[in-house]
Parts: sequence; C-alpha cells; structure tokens
Amino acid sequence: MKRVTAFIGSPRKRATYQAVQEFEKNLESYGEIEFEYVFLKDYKLDFCTGCCLCFDKGEEFCPLQDDRDVLLEKLYQSDGVVFATPSYSFQVTAPMKNLLDRMAFCHHRPRFFDKTFTAIVTYGIYGGDSIVKYLESMGQNFGFKTTRGCSLMTLEPRTESQQAKMSEKISQVSRRFFEEMMSQRPVPPSFMQVFVFRLSRTAIKLLLDENWRDYRYYKEKGWLESGYYYDVKLGFGKKLAGLLSDFIGKSMVKRRS
Ligand SMILES: Cc1cc2nc3c(=O)[nH]c(=O)nc-3n(C[C@H](O)[C@H](O)[C@H](O)COP(=O)(O)O)c2cc1C
Repeated sequence: MKRVTAFIGSPRKRATYQAVQEFEKNLESYGEIEFEYVFLKDYKLDFCTGCCLCFDKGEEFCPLQDDRDVLLEKLYQSDGVVFATPSYSFQVTAPMKNLLDRMAFCHHRPRFFDKTFTAIVTYGIYGGDSIVKYLESMGQNFGFKTTRGCSLMTLEPRTESQQAKMSEKISQVSRRFFEEMMSQRPVPPSFMQVFVFRLSRTAIKLLLDENWRDYRYYKEKGWLESGYYYDVKLGFGKKLAGLLSDFIGKSMVKRRS
C-alpha cells in the first residue's frame, strides 16, 4: 500500500480539486493507494519573517508557532506527493507559495529522495506550463523523484473533446507518477543536478563550519565527500562534470574571498 498526499493551493473545491480527484481515481485503478487531500486553506501557516534561522541553525529554531510541522510530517509520511494549484496572476496561489517559503530549508538540505513528486496546475487562459515547470523544480530541489506534471485549461464551457484531452493529460501524469513511485531504482541525476550538488557542497565545505546546520547536515550524510546525494552510478561524463563543478566551485569561492 502506498500513501499519496495531495497539497491543494486553491481556496475552493472546484477545478483543481476535480483534477486531483481524477488523478486519485487513476492511481487507485493501478494499485492499492491511501490518498489524502490537504487543503492548505485549512491549516494555519504564517508568513516567513525572513530571520533565516531555519537555514542557519535548523528548522526547529523557526520562531513561528503554527502548522508547519504538521504539513512537514505529512511529506515525511508520504510515498508520493502532489502539489496542485490554480494559476493566480501567472503563479501558484499565495497559500502554495507560502508553503514553499516555509519549507525553503529543504532546498538547503534536500531529503525526500525515496518519494515521488508531481505537479498539477489549472489555469483559465494562459500560463500554466511555466508554473508546472516551477513546481517541478521545487520538487527536485527538495530531493523528490520528480515526474513530469501537467497544466489544464479549465475555462468553461468545455467541449467533449477538450474534456477528453484534459482527462488524457491527467491519465499520463498518473501513469508516470505511479510507475516512478513503484520503482526501486535510484534515479540517475541530470548533468545540471550533479552540477548543483557539487557546487553547493564545495561552497558549504569551504565557506561554512560546524556552527552551521547545512555543514553538519552534509557531513552527517557523507555528502562532503560523495559523488551525489545518494548511491547512484554516474557515467564517465557525469563524473567528469562533477570534477569540473568542484573546480569551478573552488575558483568561485577563492575569487569571493
Ligand atoms: C485571483 C485569480 C487570479 C487568476 N489568475 C490567472 C492567470 O494569471 N492566468 C490564468 O490563465 N488564469 C488565472 N485565473 C483562473 C484560474 O487559474 C482558473 O480558473 C483555475 O482553474 C481555478 O481553479 P479552482 O477552480 O481550483 O479554484 C485566476 C483566477 C483567480 C481567482
């Protein structure tokens, strides 16, 4: 049994909710799934005050007392995670952005490597695809096994063929997500992911020390020495790209000091 949680950024139960319901139904037709809807509007999540304590000292030092850890726990307890949101002014809605801001320490200290992620975005007229890409990059930065999401134009009235096209898109997203969630293989990183990892760890190694949470986190995980976040075979090209990134990282730090 796999547990999937959908975080929904819409303040109402309409197009985005309906798309996620269809996604859920598809998943349940492939296998045994326990599915939870998390409507962000129902949780108390204050705005980040910008103190950076979560980055520097650790997330437990956040001065805000709200439901952040309830939501974080839901991420930890899931095998699969969906971020679903309407487009508001060409971006995710405010509750969804707030969730991303409040979880931003996960960009510094990625953690969800064994969990699958996707994004579902609804929009009225234009601009859904760039939001999907944005959410996919958030998923990747957090460490998730990120599968391609979709954007759905929800303007009404809809013809039968438009509705069928929408269902086909949701079906493809569901299939990709399910297959990745069931797969045991470590996802091979892209060149860009190797580059980002090696640059980050070089900067952390050279600029920080034990007083910083990121440094301790990387050290505990063995990331200050490893080729990537997790054990995965890197081909010759990616090993070379990694070494080059180490070199670039060192030169950047040297130039800065
Ligand atoms: C405040 C607001 C801003 C919106 N901004 C956009 C936008 O920039 N681009 C767009 O295509 N649709 C926009 N829409 C339309 C919604 O994205 C679209 O209707 C969506 O499917 C609504 O999802 P929901 O039914 O789950 O609330 C906006 C809607 C609202 C209420």
